[in-house]
Amino acid sequence: MLDHASKAFFHLLAKSRILKTLTSRYGMRRSGSFARRFIAGETPAEAIAAARAVESRGFLVTLDYLGESVRSLAEAAQATREYLKVAEAITGAGVERNLSIKLTQLGLDVDRATAVDNLRRIFERAEGFFVRIDMESSPYTDVTLDIFETLWRQDYHEMGVVLQADLYRSEHDLRRINALGARVRLVKGAYKEKKAIAYPKKADVDAAYLRMMEVLLREGRYPAIATHDPAMIAAAQRFAIQHGVAKDRFEFQMLYGIRRDLQQALINDGYRVRIYIPFGRQWFPYFMRRLGERPANVLFVLRGILGERS
Ligand code: FDA
Repeated sequence: MLDHASKAFFHLLAKSRILKTLTSRYGMRRSGSFARRFIAGETPAEAIAAARAVESRGFLVTLDYLGESVRSLAEAAQATREYLKVAEAITGAGVERNLSIKLTQLGLDVDRATAVDNLRRIFERAEGFFVRIDMESSPYTDVTLDIFETLWRQDYHEMGVVLQADLYRSEHDLRRINALGARVRLVKGAYKEKKAIAYPKKADVDAAYLRMMEVLLREGRYPAIATHDPAMIAAAQRFAIQHGVAKDRFEFQMLYGIRRDLQQALINDGYRVRIYIPFGRQWFPYFMRRLGERPANVLFVLRGILGERS
């Protein structure tokens, strides 16, 4: 585990607008070929090729066209148009119709109505798709859940949401989402949060994750257990067996390029495993969060940079 200072450093980098702009302008080939391990490429064609390869090994997929924190109506409209093009390409290619979307990419920072309109546009035009609303940092938790619930009550049911075990509030939110009968993806939480709202200790995050996982497996609707942590996965397997939860009543989810050994082992054991495949020119913040999660990733990148120079 990275210490708090270095984790905070990567989270600061993830928020840098200058680095985000530069890396997206110069492209992955010139500014981040080492990011390739975790990001499927910059174009829909590259993401679809990755999805096909992953599906051919028995996995399910969800595609994330990377982007977040857009600041203008025009940018939000552009991101929505891009998402619709991606949906069209996915449909044309015949890979699974499943998207993961961040509301700040659709204009949540501009205003709530913009994000809701853009999300509705995606639902209405992207036929046959399941859309997972990713969960962003804690200032967005309330509004994300409110938008989700509002649309759910308007009969948009082909969507699910994400809950982060590190937030104190999430066990309460889980009851709210379970009461709707909606699908939850359970994660530990990728953002740097203050002690006042999130467990500072990993052991406490893990314990909350286990509690929420049990509630989801018992009462949730087709939950997604999203983690690379072998202890969480083993606990989910044990709980499901003990409580007679069949392997097709839930799925595991993991990120593209992370713990591929574990991904394959679960498939070999007959579990459903969905791979989250991110792509696009706005790869920098996503990549920084992945570096912040694990020291070995930083070494991997440094080796790549030094290797490229030598
Ligand atoms: P943990 O961090 O405890 O790691 C356990 C083990 O997993 C490590 O020891 C290592 O072996 C491996 N591992 C974990 N991260 C790794 C990495 N970056 N590189 C290499 N190995 C790694 N978060 C969020 O806030 N909102 C969201 O919407 C989502 N969405 C999402 C979708 C999917 C499909 C996944 C798998 C994860 C997310 N996340 C997320 C991210 C999540 O909150 C969390 O930050 C990461 O999954 C890392 O936590 P783990 O549960 O893997 O465990």
